[in-house]
Amino acid sequence: QDLRRHNSFGFAACAENFVRVETLEQLQDAVAQAQHNGWPVLVLGGGSNLVLREQIPGLVIQMAIGGRRAEPVGDDEVRVTLGAGEIWHQSLDWMLDQGYYGLENLALIPGTVGAAPMQNIGAYGVELEQGFDSLQALDTHTGELRIFSREDCCFGYRDSCFKSMEPGRYIIIDVTFRLSLQPRPQLRYQALVDALQARGIAEPQPRDVFQVVCDIRRAKLPDPAEIGNAGSFFKNPLVSAVHYRELLQQFPRLVAYPAGEGYKLAAGWLIEQCGWKGHVRGAVGVYERQALVLVNLGAGTAPELMLLAGEIVQSVAARFGVQLEMEPRLYPA
Ligand code: EPU
Repeated sequence: QDLRRHNSFGFAACAENFVRVETLEQLQDAVAQAQHNGWPVLVLGGGSNLVLREQIPGLVIQMAIGGRRAEPVGDDEVRVTLGAGEIWHQSLDWMLDQGYYGLENLALIPGTVGAAPMQNIGAYGVELEQGFDSLQALDTHTGELRIFSREDCCFGYRDSCFKSMEPGRYIIIDVTFRLSLQPRPQLRYQALVDALQARGIAEPQPRDVFQVVCDIRRAKLPDPAEIGNAGSFFKNPLVSAVHYRELLQQFPRLVAYPAGEGYKLAAGWLIEQCGWKGHVRGAVGVYERQALVLVNLGAGTAPELMLLAGEIVQSVAARFGVQLEMEPRLYPA
């Protein structure tokens, strides 16, 4: 099975075995078959946070379990459960149509609902965990279903237990959100506030936020249907307040935001300062409008991309003494 259309980088990759599952039963059968054969399993959503090598051993499962249902919680809130295979952006659009609010800042993030909690997707001042209620996952060790509360998921910045603790053990089958029936626009991200103001929108409704976020993303980030990419390739590194002040003395134009006890540095700025923005190397490169985004210009491969990423990490470390961490998952690692 050719996986080119199943990963947003558009890398040519070949799966030894491939199955698309639309029900829990089909998923259980696929997992049983893999265990019987001793195959490693990769569960794919939209493949939008993945760097795929050319040969994928074992079984690739395309998660396509759908479903949307909602139940009210009191007068002001609603619990919405979405199948893991639902497309994130379409689901969000639907939730807004229904009048379920809280996650509109996460518009246009590629990928599926099931993939969203894995890395606690976040953008424009909101992280998924803020609207998260619980999720249901198949434990591939015991064959049983397990409910995860928000605490169980150990959400962090672009992180959860599904990513960092026991990757691969649990397969998310649906996610439940707890949303507001009253509009409560989250206007913490300056670029978002500025864009709303520039449009003369004084009292933004959730739809306005959704629309403006879509516009900002379209202006800054390449559409994976046109140029292969996985959004931000590196996390924005967290540094201590002491380290931040040292850096600021040396680099007065440093872009950073307070985060917890320390600061989050804009990795895009660090990479741009090292001269990488718009850099092309063979069939891969650094996006010309956002240095944090690496792109496949057509015939690129995972090794080529990883080589470029490695050089970027080295040059940022040499200049700023800051270690960048890759955000998407390399598979097989
Ligand atoms: N910047 C530069 N040069 C660049 C890119 C950025 O100088 O080439 C500086 C600018 O000063 C800019 C600042 O960095 O104002 C921040 O840039 P931007 O608003 O584009 O956000 P980001 O920090 O690069 C993060 C997320 C994005 C998310 C945006 C908006 C991470 C790893 N990335 O990017 O998430 O959409 O904020 O909230 O946290 C993703 O995870 O795939 C992703 C796209």
